[in-house]
Amino acid sequence: MYEFKDYYRNTVQLSFEKHPFSQKPKHVWVICRYQNQWLLTNHQDRGYEFPGGKVEPRENAEEAALREVKEETGAAVRKLTYLGQYKVLGREKVIVKNIYFAEIDKIEKQDTYYETKGPVLLKDLPEDIAKNRKYSFIMKDSVLTISLDKLKKEGMV
Ligand code: GTP
Repeated sequence: MYEFKDYYRNTVQLSFEKHPFSQKPKHVWVICRYQNQWLLTNHQDRGYEFPGGKVEPRENAEEAALREVKEETGAAVRKLTYLGQYKVLGREKVIVKNIYFAEIDKIEKQDTYYETKGPVLLKDLPEDIAKNRKYSFIMKDSVLTISLDKLKKEGMV
């Protein structure tokens, strides 16, 4: 288990075990790969981030992951792989989020991208994300760096 502070100095716990913090997490985050590029969304308030969001009452976490990727980028997922889970001990509440890795088939233009400005494709993620104003706070802690290291180590990217 890893423990570190996020952008807002909240404590975050991260693990690659199978559902270490909750069997029914209420949030999902999806690291997306399309034709050797990273697929992100441009959130209207937060900036560039991998897609994700809340699990709705009548769906499970995997269904939420597929839906959020579609809504925020227009992408259809070919293969979704559970990677890990993290817990954010916020001032007001504790949230648990599943991390997935998604291999994308195709990206289709959407009429709406909900609270985002739609898909963003990047060959490489910049070195300075933690200081880069274009990027969302959820990309600014070790969840991203440790997850990317894990994907590389597993030969998935
Ligand atoms: P509502 O319940 O709709 O009001 O949502 P909310 O604005 O309270 O946000 P949410 O429940 O999604 O998250 C609550 C808090 O958890 C946020 O304000 C963040 O501080 C934190 N949080 C949510 N997602 C992440 C994440 O991916 N990474 C980190 N580090 N913190 C997160």
